[in-house]
Order: sequence, then structure tokens, then C-alpha cells
Amino acid sequence: MELVFLEEVDSTNEYLKRIPFRSNLFVVARRQTGGKGRRGKSWLSLPDKGLYLSGLFEPLHPKKSSLAGLAFGVAVLRALQEFKDDFYLKWPNDVYVNGKKVAGILPENLSDRLIVGVGVNVSYTLQELQGLSHPATSLLVEGIRCDIGELALKVSQNLILYYEKLREGTFDVKEFESFCPMIGKEVTVLENGFCYTGKALGIDREGYLLLEKDGELKRLFSAEVSVR
Ligand code: BTN
Repeated sequence: MELVFLEEVDSTNEYLKRIPFRSNLFVVARRQTGGKGRRGKSWLSLPDKGLYLSGLFEPLHPKKSSLAGLAFGVAVLRALQEFKDDFYLKWPNDVYVNGKKVAGILPENLSDRLIVGVGVNVSYTLQELQGLSHPATSLLVEGIRCDIGELALKVSQNLILYYEKLREGTFDVKEFESFCPMIGKEVTVLENGFCYTGKALGIDREGYLLLEKDGELKRLFSAEVSVR
């Protein structure tokens, strides 16, 4: 494993697309000028306020890659749970605490490489996090002080662990479900501009969220969710 620190970069995910492939290479930036979130959104990336990290792996077979976001979500969650155990997951791969998002994951499975980007709000103030598309918090706001370098190391180690599980086919979505309190609840899901409300029954073996409404079952992939 190799961990490289950069002063400034457009996006650590984009950086790993440009360089020659090296397995288990992790890049951390002090700031990003074009941090990317999921669904074409941007990711707030002020200097030294967050962990902006991406890891590089061999691409996964398409059958296994659909679980990548879930598995890497658990990897990041487990790193954060070492500080306190109130963190939980919101499908497909956001880490939450007290109803607010603290970390997000952006996996990109390309033909020659798998890149996983992780953003954790470390020392942002609530004021700095205002105006985002979702309610957000930071480790500092939640009373946790941590060293970004140490967090980078812990997260990278966990990403390697969960990548191996994905490759071997031993990652079980039940592990994700066990940290995902929205399972069993009424949720509203936005997918491709359509809004679905129903009971979240669980996640199937391909990573789809199973939603039940009036006896009808709907399978949803990577949508935007709000829990009622
Ligand atoms: C999300 O929308 O929840 C995903 C956010 C992912 C942000 C991280 S920060 C490091 C890496 N580089 C990026 O440009 N994005 C990811």
C-alpha cells in the first residue's frame, strides 16, 4: 500500500484516472479545486477541513462491482465507528450521524481500474456546511477531533479489506443492512426524476434497494433517499 499526500488537486478521483496504474495506491489532497460528488454534484473541499482521499484498485468484474458502493460504505463507516458508534449508513453509501451526512463515497469502476473516492467532513463548522443539498455535519461538530493523516491511513486499510471481500465474493449485503436503520421503514426515493414512497424491505444480492408499496415490489439502484 502507498499513501501519497498532495497539496492541491482538481479531484483525487480524476488524478487517479490520469496516472499509470498502481494497485493499492491512495492519494490524499489538502484541498480540491473541483471535488466531485455523486450524481454530477460538487463536493465541498476547503483546505484541511476534510479528508479528500481516493484509492486505486484492479477493476472488478461487473457482477461484483454493483456491490462496491455498499462495501466501501461499510469500510468508511467502520473507520469512523472507532471514534464513536453513532454513525450509520444511508443506502446506497452515505455515512450519517444524528440525521446529517458526514461522509460520502464515489466509486468509479472503469475498464482498466477501479477508483474509490472518499470525502469525510472533518473540521467544518456548521456555518461552512450550510446551503448544501443535504443536511451535513462534521466530525468536529459531533465532538470528534482527529488527525486527517491518521484517518486517511485507517480508511485506506479498511478500503483494502473490503475490496478483497468484493473480489473474493465474501462481502455480504447483510453487513450493510445491519448498519442501515432505514431498512424496515417508510422511505421516499427519488430515481431518474421519479419519486417512490414505500417500505424499504432490504437490499438484494446485487445491491438494489427493495421497496414495497401496496403489495407491489420495486427494485431501485443508487437513488436519492429520504427517510420519513
Ligand atoms: C457523494 O456525493 O456522497 C460522494 C462524495 C465523494 C467525495 C470524494 S472527496 C475525494 C474524492 N474526490 C472527489 O472529487 N470526490 C471524492
